Parts: sequence; structure tokens; C-alpha cells
Amino acid sequence: MYFKILVVLLLGASVGYSKRLPMPPYLKACARNRPDFDECCLRSGKAAIPTLIKGDKKYDIPNMLPLVIPIIKLESGPDFSLTVKDLHVYGLQTAELLKLKMDLNNKKLYAQVLINRLELVGPYDINGRILVIPLQGKGDLNVTIDGVTADYNSDFVLKQKEGREHMAVTNSRTSIVVKKAYLHLTNLFNGNKELGETTNKALNDNWEQVLDALRPVITETITKLVNSIADGLMGHISYEDMFSEK
Ligand SMILES: *[C@@H]1O[C@H](CO)[C@@H](O)[C@H](O)[C@H]1NC(C)=O
Repeated sequence: MYFKILVVLLLGASVGYSKRLPMPPYLKACARNRPDFDECCLRSGKAAIPTLIKGDKKYDIPNMLPLVIPIIKLESGPDFSLTVKDLHVYGLQTAELLKLKMDLNNKKLYAQVLINRLELVGPYDINGRILVIPLQGKGDLNVTIDGVTADYNSDFVLKQKEGREHMAVTNSRTSIVVKKAYLHLTNLFNGNKELGETTNKALNDNWEQVLDALRPVITETITKLVNSIADGLMGHISYEDMFSEK
């Protein structure tokens, strides 16, 4: 099935002017010529994540506890549409940075993050089918995902801003592996209890395939989320201040 997706994140990504700032106190700079540069970056990133997830207005990074996504649309021709409004994503405080590679020479970034449990809750409107499961209704959706491992890859370019170089991510993409997912939709088929229960059971019995259908939305969301943190930091802190030679 081919899906057209739309994910709108109102993250305060600094597109326009952003004031130059020093490294925030919770993020340690790593000199690019130190022999343990990779370990330094990982250590610094690991320590900073809990603070970054709580947001930092100065750096245009919003509070993500919870992360609120104003609108998600998933469409596949005339046969399938899913809309979720004000989707609340709970659980990002369980995010743990496992790997981080800042390949400055090749201008590539890689990060692996493990999130223990993510709970996605919001009002939905669905029409169509996933696999062979017919779905029609309007109610509350709950997608809970255990053990999400996300691999984020990105390139970056260096942009001149007021005489200093700043990194900017481009060409970013994410892939995910999930341990288990639970799905629940209230009020399917105008509240038909029996049909609703059968459908929810079918969705959960086939959670892996259902998650595959939702995968583009989830990976797109994670990509935008990581990008917004990166944009916030890179827009405000110069490349030299982040990775100066010591
Ligand atoms: C969502 O589903 C999970 C797993 O079934 C459950 O633990 C959680 O309480 C539910 N959340 C809401 C808001 O219903």
C-alpha cells in the first residue's frame, strides 16, 4: 500500500534569525582533535538528553513532555484515510542515547536512541482498511509501543552566519525496530461494541503488519523531532564553539 503522509510538528525550529549563544551548561563541548572524540560526544549527548527533552526556550527547543503533534494525516488513494489531531506522545523521558557518531570529515551524523515505552494518544478519524481489517470510526486512539530502537542518519552542511560557521542538517532519515505494540481504538463503527472488540483484537493479533503501515508516520515524526533539537542547537551555537580544537 502506498501512503501519502503529513506530519505537522510545531517545534520552534529556528528557520530565521537565531541569536548566537555559547554551549548550554548541560552540554559539554568536545574538541575535534581529542583522541577520544567519539566517546566524548556520546558521553556529552547521553548526559544532555534528559534536559533537551524537557526543552530549552533559549535554544528554541520545545518541551517534549509530552510532545504534542497538531495533526497527522495518512492517506492512500480514495481507499484509506487516517487523521489524528493533537496527538500526545508520552514517554520521551525514557529516551536513552546508545550510539552517537559525529563524522565531521564526511559531514555525517548518526545516532541510535532507545525509548522504553512510547504512548501515543489522541482523537482519530479513520476510514478504510489496514491489511484486510476494515476500519471506520471516530474516537480515541491509543498506540503504545514498547522498546523502540531508532537509528537516525543525517548529513550536514556548514553555513556562514555573521562571519561564523554553523552546522545545518540535511537529508535526514530514521529507521525503527520495535519490540511490541499495543493498539486500541474506541468507538469504532459508531460504537458497535462487538465489531469494535473484534477489530481491536484483529489489530493487536497483527500488530507487526499494522505497525508497518504506520511506520512512515512514526519515522517521519522521529526525524523531525531530532532535527528540531539539532536545528535549535546548531542554529545558536557556532561549529567552532561546539568542536573547537584544543
Ligand atoms: C494506552 O494503552 C496502554 C497499553 O495498553 C495502557 O497502559 C495505557 O494506560 C493507555 N493509555 C490511555 C491514555 O488510555
